[in-house]
Amino acid sequence: MTEPETQKAKVAVITGAGQGIGKAIAFHLAADGYTIVIADIREEVARLTADELNQKGFHAGIVRTDVTDPDSCENMIQSAVAQFGRVDILVNSAGISKPGPTLDVLPADWQRMMNIQLNGTFYCCQSAGRQMVKQGWGGAIVNITSVTAQAAFPQRASYCTAKAGVDMLTKVLAIEWAQYKIRVNAVGPSHTETEMTKTLLAQGLYDLETVTKRIPMGRLANVDDIANGVAFLCSEKASFITGQALYIDGGYLAYGYF
Ligand SMILES: NC(=O)c1ccc[n+]([C@@H]2O[C@H](COP(=O)([O-])OP(=O)(O)OC[C@H]3O[C@@H](n4cnc5c(N)ncnc54)[C@H](O)[C@@H]3O)[C@@H](O)[C@H]2O)c1
Repeated sequence: MTEPETQKAKVAVITGAGQGIGKAIAFHLAADGYTIVIADIREEVARLTADELNQKGFHAGIVRTDVTDPDSCENMIQSAVAQFGRVDILVNSAGISKPGPTLDVLPADWQRMMNIQLNGTFYCCQSAGRQMVKQGWGGAIVNITSVTAQAAFPQRASYCTAKAGVDMLTKVLAIEWAQYKIRVNAVGPSHTETEMTKTLLAQGLYDLETVTKRIPMGRLANVDDIANGVAFLCSEKASFITGQALYIDGGYLAYGYF
């Protein structure tokens, strides 16, 4: 099936878009002409982000979504279709961070991390993929992973494992769904200035000076650094790119000296 001529506005669904990296992605994709669906477990922050977008003249709706629940992920996609007629882009940015010594990690905390970061990404990809296949003209999915998919961080066994899983899931979906013209890529940030990072700093779980010194470009990422990469991978400029992870990290992963 070819893309309908009558309905030009493409639709991007973004999980975790109430704040942080997801919110910045929403603004970048809105500026690129997409209608935005803000999907977040916290309806109030989703609403605030959508209001901000609409006040700036963009088009945005919300759907409260808990990515750990497959029915909620399916509802997210169906609600996007009901509101705006189609789904062209999915960005999975919902996430949590809970560092702690691996010897003390509770099974419930391990499972929560897997449910949000890995299982949630899978459920959302599956629902969006089914919708894109049904539509027939393809689409693009970007999963937000992390440099921790490649580099081991202490006290983050569940986070690193989940993100490594997302990187592999991205590759499998890319090769399975290429036949449907659905491109699937990942973006892996290094430490980025968001609420997540602020919370870790406030809890003393993160030493800003040490982290900054470890990054060749000498600073944390900002949310626009990350959103620029996502917008590129969603765009026609990336039309032959699939199954890749783009690490936006100021040289962090390349660095192997002291
Ligand atoms: N901030 C960093 O340094 C950094 C670095 C690498 C990767 N990441 C990844 O980037 C993504 C975004 O991180 P951020 O820093 O913007 O975090 P953030 O905490 O600022 O925002 C995360 C958003 O996800 C939402 N969310 C949490 N659980 C959810 C659920 N079950 N269902 C739906 N929404 C849910 C939250 O409500 C929140 O709005 C995450 O996947 C994170 O792991 C962040």
